[in-house]
This record gives sequence, C-alpha cells and structure tokens, in this order.
Amino acid sequence: MKRRKTHIPTIASSEITPENVWLNRRELMQQAGLGALAAAGLGSGAQATESPALRDLPAAPSSCDGCSTTEALTPYGDAISYNNFYEFGTDKSDPARYAHEMNVDPWSVEVGGLVNKPGKLNLEDLLTTFDLEERVYRFRCVEAWSMVVPWTGFPLADLLGRFEPTSDAKYVAFKTLYRRGEMRGTRSFTSIIDWPYQEGLRLDEAMNPLTLMTVGLYGKVLPNQSGAPLRLIVPWKYGFKSIKSIVSIELVDRQPETSWQQLAPQEYGFYSNVNPQVDHPRWSQRYERRLPSSLFNPNRIPTLPFNGYGEQVASLYQGMDLRVHY
Ligand code: MTE
Repeated sequence: MKRRKTHIPTIASSEITPENVWLNRRELMQQAGLGALAAAGLGSGAQATESPALRDLPAAPSSCDGCSTTEALTPYGDAISYNNFYEFGTDKSDPARYAHEMNVDPWSVEVGGLVNKPGKLNLEDLLTTFDLEERVYRFRCVEAWSMVVPWTGFPLADLLGRFEPTSDAKYVAFKTLYRRGEMRGTRSFTSIIDWPYQEGLRLDEAMNPLTLMTVGLYGKVLPNQSGAPLRLIVPWKYGFKSIKSIVSIELVDRQPETSWQQLAPQEYGFYSNVNPQVDHPRWSQRYERRLPSSLFNPNRIPTLPFNGYGEQVASLYQGMDLRVHY
C-alpha cells in the first residue's frame, strides 16, 4: 500500500512451526502454570514462530448464500505470516513478528453514536451472545494478492441490531486499538498513518449478511497478527476495509473518514469494491496472485467483480458509477 518497493517474502513451509510443536509448548506452559493464558490463546504471547497454541473455536459451517467455496484453502501458515497490520510495521512479516506485543486481554468494544442503546461489550459477552459460524471467503488485497480463508464469526448486523441504530444512522465508523507502547509501527519515524486506523461502511453494506465480525480463522481464535480479538471481514471489498483489532464502532450520519482515504484519496476510495475494471495507480486489478505464490509459480488468476460476490451485493450499488465511487 505504501509507496516504497514492496518486498514479497515467500515462506517455505519449513519455516512455519507445525501445530504439534506449539501444542508441546502449550503443555510446557501449562506445567509452568501459564495454562490459562495458553488455553485462552490470548495475552501477549510469544513470537509467531514460537506461538502458544491458539484456542480452538469450533463453529458450524454457515449456510448463507456465498459463504462457502470449493476453491482450495490458503494454508494456515501463509494466512498468519503474510500480513498487513501497519501498527506493527510495513513489512509483510512484521505483524507475525511483533503483534504479540499487543495485549488483547481484557478487550471490549464500544458501540455508540446514533443508536438508542449505546454501550460496551467485552470479549466474553461477544463470544457468548452471538452464534458463531464458519465462512470460507475469498480475501482480495488491493496489492493484487488473494487468499481463501475459513473465518469464524457472526454477522455485523446481529451486533448492530442489539444497539438499535436510529433512523438518522447512515454509516458505520470503526476504529482500531491505538497503544503506542505496544505497537512499534505507530512509533516508527516512517509511520505514515494518522493513528488510530479507521474504516467505514455505508449502513446497508454493514447490514449485508456477508459482512462478518470475525473472532477466529481455521477453527482457532484469531492470532494477534490477524487482528485479534475482533476484526471485520467484508469479502467483496479490498482487504484494507477489513479493519483489525476493533475497539470502537460508531453509527453516524455522514460518510466517515478512513485512514487510506486520508492518506491518498485519489488511490483509495471509500467504497473500494473489488473491481477488475478500475486499476489502482500501482497495481492492475485485472489479475491476482492467489497465495501461496512464488516467482516460478505465480498462481495468477483473473479477478472477479465484487470478488465474485456480485450476486449477493451488486444491488447495493445500483445506479452508481463505480469508476467515480471507487
Ligand atoms: N487493520 C489495521 N488496524 N491496520 C492495518 O494496517 N491493514 C489492512 C486490513 N486491516 C490493516 C488493517 C490491509 S491493507 C489488509 S490487506 C488486511 O488487513 C490484511 O489482513 P490479513 O493480514 O489478515 O491478511
């Protein structure tokens, strides 16, 4: 996303710690009296290559339209080691290396603005109040790489409904945690974002059944680098809309500012629907590299409008010129 040349590491499967090694580590932690933390998969764990085992988060497969695919899953190791989470640095490997420095326990999210019942939910409330489901979505970054990931979560509409948006609410604004002491990327002199990271959706996009509040992936709680403990997944939009580690959700009547729009409005629009016909100044959007991909096996596939979710979401944009509203 940034303007310097992107270094794209290819990760050999040998570099990824197998789960049985993590599990052994978990046993060791339990013997050492650190079991609660290890079992929860929360707290400021160790580096990704030595991560404690993450807690299993079983969920029934979703039956919603568009919530499954027969495409091959991206290996778990790739999904949790090739990340964008600028709070921890701009290199793809920085989040896996440094996101353990973020303390995610306890965690709560505040929901306010144009709602009848503003309030706060802590993570335990979230996990017990909403029915978790697993959805396998394509995930497409504006940098023209993509993954197929099984996410665990619940519809954002279920969460918003509890707080009763008023008739004046037209948009939803999200903010990520901002803790300089735990997020080395925010302290860096090369940091380009005006923290905290923020994103937004139109209310009807937020209420669309595909829009998922996500707490897990591959049947486990989210590791920190993936946006623990709570992130958004909007599968028909470029990945930067899928804001991580959310602490604030506000219902508003005007289109909210977003971090990438603030930075380069001519490059990153508010809508950012996946669109092979509208190129980004640095990345053609006609094709994508489906991870894992390498120089010799780029795994290049054509990009689909709305990332293949047109049937479910194209009607939201009827009458809009998506070249203008990119
Ligand atoms: N959320 C926050 N808070 N900070 C970020 O830097 N990066 C975005 C998005 N959410 C980002 C974020 C971008 S550019 C992408 S492509 C996705 O997260 C990457 O998600 P992943 O690392 O789980 O693949």
